[in-house]
Amino acid sequence: MAEQNAPDYPPALELEKELTRKERQIEYLQTELRRYHNLMEELKQGMRPIGTIEEVKGETALVRLSGGQAFQVSVPPELVDKVTPDVDAVLSPTKGVIVDVVERIRERSVLEYQVEKAPKVFYEDIIGLEKEMHNLRQTTEWILDPDVRARREQIIRDPRMLEDAGSVLLFGPPGTGKTYMAKAVAGTISKNGQATSFLKIESYEIVSKWLGESAKNVKEVFKLARETAPTVLFIDEADAIGRARMEATTDAGRDVQGMLNQILTELGEGFHVNRNVAVIFATNYPSVIDRALLDRIKRVIYVPPPKTKEGVKQLVDFYLSKVELDPSVSNYQGGLIDEAFDEIWRTVRTRRQVYEASIPERGIMVRDQYVITPRDVKNVVQEAASEASFVSERYVTLDRLLNLFKNLAAEERVSRVVS
Ligand SMILES: Nc1ncnc2c1ncn2[C@@H]1O[C@H](COP(=O)(O)OP(=O)(O)OP(=O)(O)O)[C@@H](O)[C@H]1O
Ligand SMILES: [Mg+2]
Repeated sequence: MAEQNAPDYPPALELEKELTRKERQIEYLQTELRRYHNLMEELKQGMRPIGTIEEVKGETALVRLSGGQAFQVSVPPELVDKVTPDVDAVLSPTKGVIVDVVERIRERSVLEYQVEKAPKVFYEDIIGLEKEMHNLRQTTEWILDPDVRARREQIIRDPRMLEDAGSVLLFGPPGTGKTYMAKAVAGTISKNGQATSFLKIESYEIVSKWLGESAKNVKEVFKLARETAPTVLFIDEADAIGRARMEATTDAGRDVQGMLNQILTELGEGFHVNRNVAVIFATNYPSVIDRALLDRIKRVIYVPPPKTKEGVKQLVDFYLSKVELDPSVSNYQGGLIDEAFDEIWRTVRTRRQVYEASIPERGIMVRDQYVITPRDVKNVVQEAASEASFVSERYVTLDRLLNLFKNLAAEERVSRVVS
């Protein structure tokens, strides 16, 4: 009887799984929320059409938007003096009135570029990512380096087969070396004789709050990449491009579509081959990448954190070899003796960092657990060296390192990134 009346609960294990799943969703949504708040701030400032002033007649003006359409708009009295063909007009959302004037777009760069000619980062600076680096090199070097290109052309006799260039997406948790790897491509090719630029842009910068400007920004970025070629064009936070589409409403939606179309056009066939530009996208949140964009990306590379004790030791040794280390714990190759590293390991091994990401379209599913990233290791060693020099010590001691690793472990014992 009792059995018959018992409610139909799913087994405890199922509930537990469901709980974990929900917790993960909450964490993900909280991150999302933060990003949305930031974006909302921007949107509140107004997604306003902007265009060139073609003609001014008293209280009306003819304004052409970058999309091509022209509007007859009214000029409020307080702006009459300022509205001239030398400036650009910001219109009201309904495109009926000029609400402000700004410096001519083509004379001001709205983007914060970072162009570096021959950056000083090389393949040997990348620790523990041999397979990933090999993959990245294979997709990018032949676009940039004439020697690699020539070797390729010797093997591939039909030139139509050479047109098969494509962009790359690097994804993974923060601080694992995505930016560094992309930079190393430009740095190493430069060192080998072909000066190569590294042009970095944040996707958030491309997505403009000015209507019609996003596509123009894309054009501007790619134009600059061509002008500085051979160039590694590094488009960071690539998820922002996908997010923009999810956010967008009507006018803004058209703007985002225009921007995406422009990216797709720029990435179109032949671009890399003819212009010597290797495009590398990067993100922590690959599941948010726009699908149309993903279709154009030839290779997707996961950049994992170090997952073994040995992997972490290699990083610690690498960075310690660049500073003065207490000889009593040094293995005389600049790294730590095993006993000393064991102590460090004991302080950080309880840290639990989780990274999860999936790109179903590419059959990619990642779930990694790790204790520390290369960025953390570098920061600790740098900090230890800076503390030591500040108190006039001649070298970094194990105690100092242990302290900093301990702080790191205490600060965020558990963290999780889900995409
Ligand atoms: N695999 C690595 N080997 C050696 N050093 C590394 C490695 N990965 C990262 N670093 C160090 O950590 C710093 C940060 O790395 P980087 O900026 O490439 O991380 P990222 O993956 O781009 O992170 P984010 O996702 O936050 O942009 C680098 O400047 C470099 O000094
Ligand atoms: Mg980065």
